[in-house]
Amino acid sequence: MTEILPSILAADFARLGEEIARVERGGASMLHLDVMDGHFVPNLTIGPSIVKAIRKITKATLDVHLMITDPDRYAPVFIEAGADCVSVHQETCRHLDGTLRMIQSEGARAGVVINPATPVSTLGEVLDLADYILVMSVNPGFGGQQFLPNSLGKARALDARRREMNLNFHIEIDGGITMDNVTDAVRAGCDWLVAGTAIFHSEDPAAAVRGMQHLAREATAIRA
Ligand code: DX5
Ligand code: ZN
Repeated sequence: MTEILPSILAADFARLGEEIARVERGGASMLHLDVMDGHFVPNLTIGPSIVKAIRKITKATLDVHLMITDPDRYAPVFIEAGADCVSVHQETCRHLDGTLRMIQSEGARAGVVINPATPVSTLGEVLDLADYILVMSVNPGFGGQQFLPNSLGKARALDARRREMNLNFHIEIDGGITMDNVTDAVRAGCDWLVAGTAIFHSEDPAAAVRGMQHLAREATAIRA
């Protein structure tokens, strides 16, 4: 099932509870939480205490995107705080297979993220292990950037590998997703579409989720 994941990075942090309630009213059942450490990316965001606070106010699936240099150390902490899905950057993991297995053994779904300059070929040996692959469609660190179209080719390549190998990992895309590229992303094979600015900076975030979800489901029906 195709899902739109609001990224709370673009929400008003002073009213986070209300912002989350709004997107849930729009039908969001997954939320994307960006964790940045100021080392792997030049920005700092939220830690486990915020994830824990969010866990208390929602039943939505919490998808935690770790943009940090030491995911092995912190993934269990975020799972303990309430993360359902945890993704780690391929660029930060020396023993990627071990990290994915560790996340799964701690009780969460494990995802691998690739930056715009990282090729899909680096994932060849973990495609049968990962629960999802996140293709960055901007360089990570900030919301509100412009969508990089090379990400669609990567999603297509992953979708082709998924069919060839008869696997069922989800393909997620993150960065610069708007009403204008939802259809292209789904047609390329993406199942989970993250959107921050396009949802929380719109006049009506609930309507934005509904609109994007509608486009995504229409495109999925054609793809299937
Ligand atoms: C960027 C983050 C994204 C960000 C997307 O590093 O990983 O999740 O919130 O924001 P938009 O949708 O505004 O590009
Ligand atoms: Zn993200």
